[in-house]
Amino acid sequence: MESKTRILFVCLGNICRSPAADGIMHDMVEKQGVADRFMIDSAGTYGGHRGELPDARMRSAASRRGYALTHRSRQVSEEDFDCFDMIVAMDDRNYETLNRLAPSREAARKIYRMAEFCRRHPDRTYVPDPYYEGHEGFELVLDMLEDGCEGIMEYLRNPARN
Ligand code: 4NP
Repeated sequence: MESKTRILFVCLGNICRSPAADGIMHDMVEKQGVADRFMIDSAGTYGGHRGELPDARMRSAASRRGYALTHRSRQVSEEDFDCFDMIVAMDDRNYETLNRLAPSREAARKIYRMAEFCRRHPDRTYVPDPYYEGHEGFELVLDMLEDGCEGIMEYLRNPARN
């Protein structure tokens, strides 16, 4: 039996960007009929929101696009490098924190930046933190995450072309 592709999305608080990426990716693999081939989760580098549902503003923006976000925030751990194949950071700070946490060089090779999969946002190098932003910040994040999740699916079909 083919093994599952295991993807972990990581941001700072795990209440805005990464749980939204998690929900979008779940929806995408479900709609493509390949959900059984994936394990998808999200976590934050900061543990202060542990146990919380995603931010109400993100839940409402996501729900308008048909995504129900039910993830509970958790902090990323060193063990996640054993449990996942791809660990996808939303911004440079998350990327650097993950690199410090990685238990080996081989483990660090599992770390990616979400923006590298965003085909429709070529000028963006990171997914901006919407926490202190207005409504547009959340819409931009969701646009980028939909784009990035499509890019990840494309990359998994054809890794050489990324
Ligand atoms: P996220 O957004 O990293 O996309 O979940 C944030 C959530 C909380 C905080 C910062 C960013 N915070 O400072 O509490």
